[in-house]
Amino acid sequence: MTKRIAVLGAQWGDEGKGAIIAQLAENADIVVRAQGGDNAGHTFYTKEGKKVVTNIAPSGICFPNVSNVIGNGCVVNLETLAKNIADYSPELYISDAAHLILDYHRVLDRVREKSRNKGAIGTTQRGIGPVYADKMNRVGIRMGLLKHLERLEQEIRYAVEQKNKEFISYGIEEFIDADKLLEQMRPLFKQFAPCVIDTGVYLHHAVKENKRMLFEGSQAAMLDIDHGTYPAVTSSNTTMGGMLMGTGLGLRAIERGIGVAKAYTTRVGEGIFPTEGEPYQNIKGYKRGEFILTDTEKRDLREGGLSDAIIFRYIREIADEYGATTGRPRRVGWFDMVALKKAVRVNDLDSLAITKLDCLDGIGTLKVCTAYQHSETGQMITDFPSDQQELEGFIPVYELFKGWGSTKGIRDYEQLPKETKKYLGFIAETLNVPISLIKNGCGLEDYILMDGLW
Ligand code: IMP
Repeated sequence: MTKRIAVLGAQWGDEGKGAIIAQLAENADIVVRAQGGDNAGHTFYTKEGKKVVTNIAPSGICFPNVSNVIGNGCVVNLETLAKNIADYSPELYISDAAHLILDYHRVLDRVREKSRNKGAIGTTQRGIGPVYADKMNRVGIRMGLLKHLERLEQEIRYAVEQKNKEFISYGIEEFIDADKLLEQMRPLFKQFAPCVIDTGVYLHHAVKENKRMLFEGSQAAMLDIDHGTYPAVTSSNTTMGGMLMGTGLGLRAIERGIGVAKAYTTRVGEGIFPTEGEPYQNIKGYKRGEFILTDTEKRDLREGGLSDAIIFRYIREIADEYGATTGRPRRVGWFDMVALKKAVRVNDLDSLAITKLDCLDGIGTLKVCTAYQHSETGQMITDFPSDQQELEGFIPVYELFKGWGSTKGIRDYEQLPKETKKYLGFIAETLNVPISLIKNGCGLEDYILMDGLW
């Protein structure tokens, strides 16, 4: 029986990992986060109907008997962590080698974003890039210092001095007051100091004891700092390698990798997105609930005559494709097999979990991108290039699929409409990865399980 599972985003994030993670977390002994910070937003509902939102806390916090670990690869905003766990009394361990996010990281995130010559990334403004930069520059402040308060305060004062100097170079006068910052942080240092341990040792023993461990991915393959659509990526390794690095475990620690992908694709922030329906500039101003299909458009949606842009506006509304953390409208596009193929390869995925299948219900014609083709030369690309500039002039090549009526309420794969099975079968066969779970609704019980996950 599988004891150690990683759940990873296989697209550009927001795939609905939260619901799948929650399902697994409930029966786990340990839930581990290995990378990222409070740029993540995992939302799910417990069996009792309670909405749980975690940003930096692992998703096991709301379940009794689950131990929660924030690994060394994470960057920690203690204020967010305190909010995440406020309603619970979880068993929580934080790696002494994880890095602390402080106010100046958030200021730097904002001002560096504005001054980039490579163009804005559209970050979550949580200070993620600056804190990982400090880590790599070897000037970061690690959680282990929570056990040495005097040294911690000295290091923070020095860092504030340095960052305030840096602020001047960006022409801002929003200086950080070290005394105020420390005053605000001291209660948090006190609260979390007892949680700080060498989590590498703790996790190593857990593996030896054959505990059930869930490795909770954040962000997704196409946002990986090395393998994603650089530079419009996050600043950590969001793929399987990052899981090991960010926990201190070795090659054989994780037995199974499940990649989560929506039945279509979304992306937030800037960066390449080959299958999107309309330019990002257009959608920036869209607000939740503003778009309603006319009767003619409803007919065209069913009969297959609607433009991609309008179909995606429709999906954005019914699937609530607005950022959980930031409220930004998400860019929506067709399912992209070229990008997925990369996620499968980089993570060596064992299976896929397909989410939001029901959000494609009632759309007459569906498209799946199988390659990119140069609009002038006809050259084809079937492997997502690591340098996104190589995609200039390329457009998606689509396989068309007949849509279906409704998948809602179905609990057995065989009961799905034949068109749905054809769509999903094509994805699984082409990628050569089985689908182990399908989500077809927001409720906890709205899923089709193809094999036992644990
Ligand atoms: P950062 O991680 O805040 O530096 O943002 C870098 C890029 O990753 C931006 O395009 C963000 O929108 C994106 N990003 C970061 N975290 C998430 C997430 O949890 N879901 C989706 N996109 C994310």
